[in-house]
Amino acid sequence: MSSTLPVFTPIEETLFLTLCGRALDNHLPHPILGDTMAGELVRRLGYDCDRYHLSASPIINIAHRARKLDQVAQQFITRHPNAVGLDLGAGLDTRAFRIDPPATVDWYDVDYPEVIAARQQLLPGRAHAHGIGVDLTDPTWLDAIPTDRPAVIVADGLMAFLTQEDLISLVNRLISHFPGGELAFNGYTRFAIWAARHYHGTQSVAGLIRSPGFDDPHEPERWSPRLQLVREILLTREPEVAEFPPTLRWFTRLAAHSTAVSRGGTTVLHYRF
Ligand SMILES: C[S@@+](CC[C@H](N)C(=O)[O-])C[C@H]1O[C@@H](n2cnc3c(N)ncnc32)[C@H](O)[C@@H]1O
Repeated sequence: MSSTLPVFTPIEETLFLTLCGRALDNHLPHPILGDTMAGELVRRLGYDCDRYHLSASPIINIAHRARKLDQVAQQFITRHPNAVGLDLGAGLDTRAFRIDPPATVDWYDVDYPEVIAARQQLLPGRAHAHGIGVDLTDPTWLDAIPTDRPAVIVADGLMAFLTQEDLISLVNRLISHFPGGELAFNGYTRFAIWAARHYHGTQSVAGLIRSPGFDDPHEPERWSPRLQLVREILLTREPEVAEFPPTLRWFTRLAAHSTAVSRGGTTVLHYRF
């Protein structure tokens, strides 16, 4: 059954870049994420992922960071089966289907109202999964979420679109809303922001990038005294690299020798509060 392509604003439209990354990963001989729902969704929408000219490297990067964020959420939920999970700037990601939390967990996908409406139209419903259609810079949206449960909060591909000021106040609102929890997102160094503005695969989003990026993974600890770095996950050094196609694996292993070079690529930053 085909579905009509929703009409999105340019910033909402960025969700297709990551959705295409996961869908194209799913078509690789050895997918890193294996998100069959992403592949199916792109097919149903008839979306032309060729417009992004994504080569194996960015496709695998998108899939790999999603897998790392899934792992952070999954491990937290295993330790805290009464948790709430939040996916900020969820787009059309099917994370809750991939990690399949137990019924004791409430999962919240948060994005602009048009995106949440599209999710409801395009993705099957799940018990204990909720969509919140808001602008994340609106200070009141957290009111809909319980305050008395531990929270695991992930954001995949969101942070580059927030100003530093909006990001810091969002992080502080999240931390003060919950008794404790974990926060993980893909980080952007200053170089990574520069590269995202200039690399042909992300040219379509270049004008929407608001974050200056930051190089020190400890920097967010200065935004809130409750935030503590658990781990800077340099994707070049993760075990999944063994599953990469040979040439990309060789380059990635070479890059892994240098922290500075690894940080220029994709990192996942994992904090507790
Ligand atoms: C690159 S997409 C990533 C989507 C999804 N996380 C994924 O991995 O496919 C960025 C998402 O952030 C959302 N977004 C950006 N700024 C936002 C804001 N201020 N409030 C709510 N959503 C926002 C966009 O609508 C978009 O869905």
